[in-house]
Order: sequence, then C-alpha cells, then structure tokens
Amino acid sequence: MTVQQTLILLKPDAVERQLIGRILSRFEQKGLKIINLRLFRFTQELARQHYAEHVGKPFYSGLEEYIMSGLVVAAILEGPEAVAVVRRLIGPTNGIEAPPGTIRGDFSLSNQQNLIHASDSTVSAEREINIFFPTI
Ligand code: CMP
Repeated sequence: MTVQQTLILLKPDAVERQLIGRILSRFEQKGLKIINLRLFRFTQELARQHYAEHVGKPFYSGLEEYIMSGLVVAAILEGPEAVAVVRRLIGPTNGIEAPPGTIRGDFSLSNQQNLIHASDSTVSAEREINIFFPTI
C-alpha cells in the first residue's frame, strides 16, 4: 500500500449544478484528504496542455469549448492508492454506462459532460498536479 496524490477537476457542469460539496464529500467520506484546492477558469492554452493527448481527436474541439465554458475546481487528493481509488469512485467516462454508486453513475448522463476528471496513473497525477499547482 502506497500513499499517493492524485488530481481531480470538477468540470463546469459540476460547478454550474452546485455539486461541488456533494462530490468533494464523497472523497472525504472515503477517507481521502483534500490537500490543495482552487477555483478558476480554463484558458485555451491550459486546455491544450492538460488535454494534450486528446488534441486532434474528433471530440477535442467540443471538449475544449466545454472545459472553458465555466468555472472549474482543481483539487489534490491524498491517501492509500489514491489514483486507483479515485478512478473507481468516479466511474467510467460515459455517465450512461457508469454504475450506480459512482459519481458519474449517480449524477451524469453524458460522455462529455461527465462532471469530473481524475488522473489515470501516478505519472499523469504528477504531470497534472504540476500544471494546476505549480511549485515555484
Ligand atoms: P476526462 O476524464 O476529463 O478525459 C477526457 C475527456 O474527454 C473525458 O473526461 C470526457 O469529458 C471527454 N471525452 C472522452 N471521450 C469522449 C467522447 N467520445 N466524446 C466526447 N467527449 C469525450
């Protein structure tokens, strides 16, 4: 068992639907610690940096428009095996397929407007934490 840090983003639909508290409480309930938190708006440059692996895919322009459409919350969560634990709590990308009990399964019916992003590996977590919480 390794204590890890992972990055989550509560996307514009989560903020607009006033789900910040309910979503963050799921992670706190599980025992994960919120060790940093900020509310901000994506720029196009930031979207291209964060979603670098998706630039050029058919859904990218819609994804960029969506992620820039409103305020976003970024947080660093910490706990045992946090990367995998958080991915399981949020559920698969598509809210239609995400099982009940997961965050997307309980609150989303969309492949794109799926409320939340979470790092998919420890390597991604380190890269994404540095994007949203740079250490000077
Ligand atoms: P996220 O976990 O933030 O990682 C990439 C995002 O792209 C994903 O959540 C969705 O919001 C979006 N996405 C992934 N696949 C698709 C798709 N097929 N169509 C539209 N949006 C997608």
